[in-house]
Amino acid sequence: MTTQQPPPPAESSAQPLESDAVDPFASADLEPEAIAEVGPGVKDELPAQPGDERLLMRVVACTKRFGGLVAVRDMDLRIPEGAIVSLIGPNGAGKTTFFNIVAGLTDPTAGVVEFRGRRMIARPLRTWIEPILWVLPALLAVAVGLALGAPASGELGLAITTLVALGLLIVMLLLAIVRPDWYQRRLVRLGIFRSARPNDMVVAGIGRTFQNIRLFQNMTAIENVLVGMHAKLHSNMLDSLLSTPRQRREEERAAARATELLALVGLPGREHVVARNLPYGDQRRLELARALAGDPVLLLLDEPTAGMNPRETAEMTALISRLRTELGLTVLLIEHDMRVVMGISDRITVIDHGEWLAEGTPEQVRTDPRVIEAYLGSPAA
Ligand SMILES: Nc1ncnc2c1ncn2[C@@H]1O[C@H](COP(=O)(O)OP(=O)(O)OP(=O)(O)O)[C@@H](O)[C@H]1O
Ligand SMILES: [Mg+2]
Repeated sequence: MTTQQPPPPAESSAQPLESDAVDPFASADLEPEAIAEVGPGVKDELPAQPGDERLLMRVVACTKRFGGLVAVRDMDLRIPEGAIVSLIGPNGAGKTTFFNIVAGLTDPTAGVVEFRGRRMIARPLRTWIEPILWVLPALLAVAVGLALGAPASGELGLAITTLVALGLLIVMLLLAIVRPDWYQRRLVRLGIFRSARPNDMVVAGIGRTFQNIRLFQNMTAIENVLVGMHAKLHSNMLDSLLSTPRQRREEERAAARATELLALVGLPGREHVVARNLPYGDQRRLELARALAGDPVLLLLDEPTAGMNPRETAEMTALISRLRTELGLTVLLIEHDMRVVMGISDRITVIDHGEWLAEGTPEQVRTDPRVIEAYLGSPAA
């Protein structure tokens, strides 16, 4: 879709790419062949553009159907590292649906989402192999038992064979539930691909807020932020049960970081206020703090100033700019308030009726007749 130059990359202190050694998606890099391999509905790789090497996210030919309704059709989007990219469009254009797709919350009907150079969301591949892996060791144990003459050696032989087979089956099913990194890497090596879930996207470096505030209303502000850190904490159930020093240290660090984040978003001293008792604007700030708690590199903000008064809107706009300059964050923003969008965006993509309509700098988009028509309707004949 895009033929224009991507924005000049802003100063960024974004974290380096994760090491392949710990990334279950490591070998699923989005090579051109890999895109083609994903199947129907996914068009060829977008033509390379200057600055592509600094892309943080690339969405290719994304479509989402809800029954007969096509909420998003064949959408492409590039998000350069360090940029503030806005997605605008009239009500019902498909902006939130698109957000939900790239956050791993909604499965696309077709398309690929690549994040930090890795394919994260796409049509699943060869997932039928995995259930075979779960039962294979147990079947092998039975075969070995039979080969060694277990039935002939009486009840003991049969019992041992059955126990070993059952044990192996349970171990494999537990692995499938816990899904440690090494297990996921083996699956990738076998050519199995599953789209990332929202928690995978959080771990990969995406934080988001919601169009309609979704806080844990009966929890305090700091508890809400701590929930946002959950995916990045390392203590396990045993640490919690035994209250180990490692767990206590991690808890202290998390509480200190949550306090810092609350101050950053403009809620100093509000740590122990129950979320539902915060004024509306502060609840939006708290959502932002929770999104930052996962230490994201890309922040998805769905109408962060909706329902705010002009002063709160100006403060939130300044805060989003600071997040880019001070934390090096890249931002994908959905916003209806054009003063906000035009004021802070490097690039704006316009979507209408689920389809890409225009893309460019704020000035290019502001004066684009297609955009004016989408918002205001065509002039009367
Ligand atoms: N879960 C769903 N099931 C069926 N239709 C849906 C679902 N979610 C969204 N839609 C439809 O998809 C279309 C796009 O909705 P979406 O919420 O993405 O629009 P939007 O651009 O975010 O609008 P707004 O600016 O009002 O927030 C709408 O017609 C909506 O009714
Ligand atoms: Mg929306």
